[in-house]
Amino acid sequence: MSKGKSVFRCTECGADQPKWGGKCDACGAWNSLIEEPIRRTVGRSDRRSVSSDSQTVRLSDIGTTPLQRWRTGLAEFDFVLGGGIVPGSVVLVGGEPGIGKSTLLMQCAARLESQGVSTLYVSGEESPDQLRLRADRLQEDAGGIHVLGETRLESILHHAAQLKSSVVLLDSVQTTYTEELEGAPGNVGQVRECAARLMRFAKESGPAVVLVGHVTKGGGIAGPKTLEHIVDTVLYFEGETTLDHRILRAVKNRFGSVDEIGVFRMTGTGLEPVANPAAAFLAGRSTGASGSAVTALMEGTRPMLVEIQALASKAGFGTPQRVATGLDHRRLALLLAVLERRGGLPFGNLDVFVNVTGGVRLIEPSTDLAILAALVSTVHDRPVPADALFLGEVGLGGEIRPVAGVERRLAEAARQGFRRVFLSARSRGAAGELEVIGLEGIGELTRRLAA
Ligand code: TYD
Ligand code: MG
Repeated sequence: MSKGKSVFRCTECGADQPKWGGKCDACGAWNSLIEEPIRRTVGRSDRRSVSSDSQTVRLSDIGTTPLQRWRTGLAEFDFVLGGGIVPGSVVLVGGEPGIGKSTLLMQCAARLESQGVSTLYVSGEESPDQLRLRADRLQEDAGGIHVLGETRLESILHHAAQLKSSVVLLDSVQTTYTEELEGAPGNVGQVRECAARLMRFAKESGPAVVLVGHVTKGGGIAGPKTLEHIVDTVLYFEGETTLDHRILRAVKNRFGSVDEIGVFRMTGTGLEPVANPAAAFLAGRSTGASGSAVTALMEGTRPMLVEIQALASKAGFGTPQRVATGLDHRRLALLLAVLERRGGLPFGNLDVFVNVTGGVRLIEPSTDLAILAALVSTVHDRPVPADALFLGEVGLGGEIRPVAGVERRLAEAARQGFRRVFLSARSRGAAGELEVIGLEGIGELTRRLAA
């Protein structure tokens, strides 16, 4: 690389800096600066003049045709997108290797093709032979899909334009490169430029583009910020590769709501949308055991029931262990301290393990009460009622606070067979057919569960 023709770009925030350093000045990330060549050609837009070919238009003069969407028929995928793929939009599907991104794209292509929506599946990762093997395994009618093994963007765009494909699926954006830039495929400059060119192609020519993006160690898609604001929709595919549940989460959506999730199961013949996602993570719950409590999370507009398991056992020598899986360990430490000080339960010589089943991560504080219930239950070795739901945030004073969206959570719990709910005495909202046990503070919780 010749001197003076490159900048140093942060893979975390995308900021450019004139010289290399261990730390990004803009976002403070360490070891995130990489050398990026400057574009060879300078775009015309950089030499803007005062005259312009574009025109302004009054909002009221723009027609209001309802948004067209292609439903793939993969119910959970359509749901997360907000009803299907919007023509001319760019969707990024991110996720760790092996989570099922290529499988999702292939199934999506097959479903679209079988409805007469023409698709082009471009893979820079697998050969057409391998794609064929995957399609056979999926038992989908995938014969009509055009496949292309290519990594050069110019050639991909040429084929897509020639075939007049309605949906172009590109696996992956990190293996694609453009001739216009120097630098290897996968570096931030290439990834960003390819995504931007695909976006322009989609807006100008009308096809939808679905991109696969690999998530890096830090959890971002090759410079997370740099891609997320280019595309219309960003979906993350999550889950433990060892478990068969997969969660597809919308983190950005210009054509639908964010934070919606779709739940799939990875089977021997591909991904299967889960029919009853609210209860998907309760499957296999052992109702008679102590140390287990159920709560309801809001995932976008959907309530989901999750089980929290706790186990307290006598510690050996040294500092007792605190192990939290699926929740922040600082949250656990805080709740243990509250339980000890305000609830009078000593944990000083107990090892404590807390686990959220199904690979779910708890972020909402509304799950505090269920964590406490599981802890109290394990300490007393006494199961909580199997038909009880716990919903509430716990404060440092041991008070139990109401949570948002109570009605929707309770309605879902009732549908799944729960009969009573422990929540803040200050909660408002109809509980329907559920028996309500209103609590002011955690003292009442411990008394109730010991009774
Ligand atoms: P893949 O879609 O290749 O993941 P990604 O593109 O995100 O890297 O699929 C990954 C895993 O899924 C792979 O380990 C095999 C498994 N799998 C199934 O269990 N059933 C199937 O029908 C298919 C196609 C894959
Ligand atoms: Mg793949």
